[in-house]
Amino acid sequence: MSAIDRSSTVTGTVAVVGTGTMGQGIAQVALVAGHPVRLYDAAPGRAAEAAASIAARLDRLVEKGRLTAADRDAARARLHPARALAELADAELVIEAVVEDPAVKQKLFTELEEFVGDACLLATNTSSLSVTAVAGALRTPGRFAGLHFFNPAPLLPLVEVVRGSATDAAAADRAYATVAAWGKTPVRCADTPGFIVNRVARPFYAEAFRVYEERAADPATIDAALRESGGFKMGPFELTDLIGQDVNEAVTRSVWESFFHDPKFTPSLAQRRLVESGLHGRKSGRGWYDHGAGATPPAPHTAEPRRAPREVTIEGSLGPADVLRELIEEAGIKVVRDGDPADWKGRIELPGGALLRLSDGGAASDDESGTYIHFDLSLDYRAATRIVLAPADSAAPEDVDEAIGLFQALGKQVSVIDDVPGMIVVRTVAMIVDFALDAVARGVAGPEDVDTAMRLGVNYPGGPLEWAGRLGATWLECVLDALHYAYPTGRYGASPALRRRAAAERKVL
Ligand SMILES: NC(=O)c1ccc[n+]([C@@H]2O[C@H](COP(=O)([O-])OP(=O)(O)OC[C@H]3O[C@@H](n4cnc5c(N)ncnc54)[C@H](O)[C@@H]3O)[C@@H](O)[C@H]2O)c1
Repeated sequence: MSAIDRSSTVTGTVAVVGTGTMGQGIAQVALVAGHPVRLYDAAPGRAAEAAASIAARLDRLVEKGRLTAADRDAARARLHPARALAELADAELVIEAVVEDPAVKQKLFTELEEFVGDACLLATNTSSLSVTAVAGALRTPGRFAGLHFFNPAPLLPLVEVVRGSATDAAAADRAYATVAAWGKTPVRCADTPGFIVNRVARPFYAEAFRVYEERAADPATIDAALRESGGFKMGPFELTDLIGQDVNEAVTRSVWESFFHDPKFTPSLAQRRLVESGLHGRKSGRGWYDHGAGATPPAPHTAEPRRAPREVTIEGSLGPADVLRELIEEAGIKVVRDGDPADWKGRIELPGGALLRLSDGGAASDDESGTYIHFDLSLDYRAATRIVLAPADSAAPEDVDEAIGLFQALGKQVSVIDDVPGMIVVRTVAMIVDFALDAVARGVAGPEDVDTAMRLGVNYPGGPLEWAGRLGATWLECVLDALHYAYPTGRYGASPALRRRAAAERKVL
């Protein structure tokens, strides 16, 4: 048992070890929350430099009217660079943000244990190492937890509070309560590779890169599909150019290696090439996109205006896209209803005879019962500004024109891509939801914490568990089964958690 008091938050001195990007941000958060803060860095002079840059950031907060001058002066007086670990002896909480190397972190914590009291909470900000492993060499590992802040720490609210195998519940509770008192939104999670966010978010990048590798669409069109149809703030290509291809790929590889090369986490060959060739994104002037001076911003493929059909027939229900019926009628196009409304694999019949259907995870060309054109998922068809189409190889240009005209009449831009199984948003969302359900079933975190983590950690327009409810487990299972049929590597095999949920759903229906 540790000597940690679970019932209260840390009120005394907070020490931050490693004063690079994350250490400085975390120190600023603790300082503004009212703690005396000690800074230590192994590189001589760096803790003092960090104190100066934190002070400069506090000045900017005063200029913006977010901090009073008196509070800034008091905060500066509470900030103390240290020259040796021994100067951290009075800390109630030490947060480590040194280089991502397990041996360095382990050595640091065993040294720290010599100086701090037994009631001092110890935390690592690691994003990819095992909290249990980092605590492995400690005399008292019970008071050790992960506190995973996101960059920039002063702005992003999410903190993953990670409980290693040896972490006492009291220590995790105290860490949780402390960061909550700092105005952050903590979520609890188990010590598994990638924690919540870096695990559940992997398909957001991987699926887009796969669609690109299959030459089904270019980066700008894939980004536009996920933004303007999917509702995500940024597409995976532009986002990884911002994060840095080296940084994003390192996370993917680390999670993949930690899961012993499970095909669900396989990294992208195209991204590997970018990293190897130094095309790291914005910081190197080029990544997926050219960021050099005078570079033309990438534009998605967008169809020219086409004539809208006057009338369409809708057979059955369009499943998660059923609101399209209302939108088509609102656009003044006559809708003839046909078929069984309980058939959720319904379709829209165009006047020329081609059939439009929400992508079901397979390719449009696979369905030999007619000429199909698949359209991609939107998490909100009313708000979506773009719809993506994937025509079967048998579709004639006039068929595609009719489909384009229909969606343009609803006020949407239209992109036509190659006939790839699961298109763009369908496969991305189905995989994210499956990863999220699997993480919950394996006790990584509770459903609400997973949704909160994905909304706040990576800005998703909703939580994956919430999407599971809206889209239906049966639909998601069908999508993954079709993808698994198309790519039988195991990557798309639905998790037992999704299958169980789908079975329960069918029992109720
Ligand atoms: N950068 C991010 O976006 C991000 C986000 C979340 C978590 N993290 C994690 O936070 C940690 C720090 O990342 P960063 O980006 O701030 O790194 P960084 O390179 O900016 O800073 C690391 C600092 O640690 C110092 N250091 C190295 N070894 C030390 C030791 N033994 N004792 C004391 N100081 C030492 C270095 O001199 C440097 O100042 C890593 O574990 C990383 O995985 C980073």
